[in-house]
Amino acid sequence: MKLNQNTLASLAAFGMLSLGLHANAEEPSPEVMKEGKSAYATCMACHNVDGKGLPVGTLKMAPPLTGSKFAMGDPEVMALAILKGIEKDPSNTAYIGIMAPLETALDDKKLASVMTYVRNSFGNKAAPVTEAQAKGYREKFAKIKSSVKRSTLDKLLEKSEAAAKGTEPAAPGEAAAPAPAASAAPPATE
Ligand code: HEC
Repeated sequence: MKLNQNTLASLAAFGMLSLGLHANAEEPSPEVMKEGKSAYATCMACHNVDGKGLPVGTLKMAPPLTGSKFAMGDPEVMALAILKGIEKDPSNTAYIGIMAPLETALDDKKLASVMTYVRNSFGNKAAPVTEAQAKGYREKFAKIKSSVKRSTLDKLLEKSEAAAKGTEPAAPGEAAAPAPAASAAPPATE
């Protein structure tokens, strides 16, 4: 086949399109979704089978995962919440439950599959999480010994979204890395 300008242009467009799809809408495998669904048993007591939060009278055990920015945002921030739990804010009386640290309840495979399941169930759509990523998050956060404040998670997510848009110098996926001590180059001393 002889390549002309148009063919090249459409090949380029297709390449870009498939790159975009790869980044945004990668399909989870049915097998991983099945594993994730069974691992989700750990979450159901609070988030309910439908992901909308188990109702208790007029209150709920936990917030809905449907449309949650943490469920669909940077998986690193989501993993941090699941591994370490979220510190209870006493002023937040809408939820009876506490987001417990679940690092011992979920091995890397279960963590990856439950995250993938939550990110692709209850109306959510977000990239699957691999076992290797899950392992990486666990190692990265190994030194954190207490639950994380919700405000900290908010900040990490904002930072990661800014990085993804290119408005922040940090590389995507480094949301939880400590801020560099000095971002500006030291003045020349000649
Ligand atoms: C014992 C109850 C409980 C269990 C079990 C539990 N959660 Fe939670 N979860 C909560 C509560 C309560 C919050 C809200 C915490 C807050 O903001 O203070 C929460 C928040 C979250 C959030 C952030 C949602 C948002 O938008 O605020 C995610 C994501 C999440 N949980 C995922 C999970 C996953 C996945 C599991 C199972 C592996 C799980 N949780 C198990 C109670 C629970």
